Amino acid sequence: MKTAITEMFGIEHPIIQGGMHYVGFAELAAAVSNAGGLGIITGLTQRTPELLAKEIARCRDMTDKPFGVNLTFLPTFSAPPYPEYIAAIRECGIKVVETAGRSPEQYMPALKAGGIKVIHKCTSVRHSLKAEQIGCDAVSVDGFECGGHPGEDDMPNMILLPRAAEELKIPFVASGGMADARSLVAALAMGAAGMNMGTRFIATKEAPVHQNVKDALVKATELDTRLVMRGLRNTERVLNNKGVEQLLEIERAKGKQLKIEDIHDQVAGVYPKVMIDGDMDAGAWSCGMVAGLIHDIPTVKELIDRIMADAERIIRQRLTGFLDDAGKRPAAALAIA
Ligand SMILES: Cc1cc2nc3c(=O)[nH]c(=O)nc-3n(C[C@H](O)[C@H](O)[C@H](O)COP(=O)(O)O)c2cc1C
Repeated sequence: MKTAITEMFGIEHPIIQGGMHYVGFAELAAAVSNAGGLGIITGLTQRTPELLAKEIARCRDMTDKPFGVNLTFLPTFSAPPYPEYIAAIRECGIKVVETAGRSPEQYMPALKAGGIKVIHKCTSVRHSLKAEQIGCDAVSVDGFECGGHPGEDDMPNMILLPRAAEELKIPFVASGGMADARSLVAALAMGAAGMNMGTRFIATKEAPVHQNVKDALVKATELDTRLVMRGLRNTERVLNNKGVEQLLEIERAKGKQLKIEDIHDQVAGVYPKVMIDGDMDAGAWSCGMVAGLIHDIPTVKELIDRIMADAERIIRQRLTGFLDDAGKRPAAALAIA
């Protein structure tokens, strides 16, 4: 499939694996890129720029296809040395950076001087337009369904994507709630040039996380995520568990007086406990509503091949089947959804 995104990033399929803390290691990024998508290493999971450079080198040993690095500008307990991370990314010859969180404006000159294409993740049309204005090459439009930080507008993709299409000149991918060929085709229909998946890629053989996490995603339904940190205007969609229930209880008790320190135990240092140790009650870790659409743990290649084959069938058979010559098509073809 050829879209503005496959052309821009030199990839075969319009599928991106979004940066994921403690998930986006070289193994997953390489598997996605080898399967024809765009794999992304999560920059800040590597504690120093030197470690990030090593992770990039490890990924390059596993794939000769393009892959990118995610840089997240979020309020954290201590700000990371972003200029040094960008220097490492440039020195390693990375040509795609997925930025997220706060605007990457102040870092754009350094990224652009490195010949890097920047795709910024945005949860609103106004932030997407700002990204376009400051020179981002593409946008990942992240709806309210998404795992991670959906922003504070609560705008689902059914509205957000067509609105982005109305306003943006640069290409964008749909992010949040994307799981399969139906998601991809729907995203393309709403004006996107591809899709970004987070949660779905965790339930794959190659995702370097504890088996408990993958099993929990298969078991979870679309009703099992919760929104935390709303009162701090740092909303995160997470998979419910005992730690999250404690967190929500503290939020209820503190009300408007809530401070980040109050929920430190339920949000800080949780990722290694979940992703490495498989402690599923440790606290808040990002997870999308799309968990309800995850029913198996395929290899990344099986997942991407299935998405592309089903997308072709949906477009060629199901959708064209609705047009004037529908009667000429076999009934079985019309049943595919
Ligand atoms: C476990 C997990 C960790 C994530 N960590 C990050 C991160 O560090 N930086 C970032 O920009 N996005 C992060 N995300 C968001 C994803 O990149 C992506 O935008 C999101 O998962 C899309 O929604 P989906 O989960 O419905 O596919 C994370 C998502 C998950 C599920």
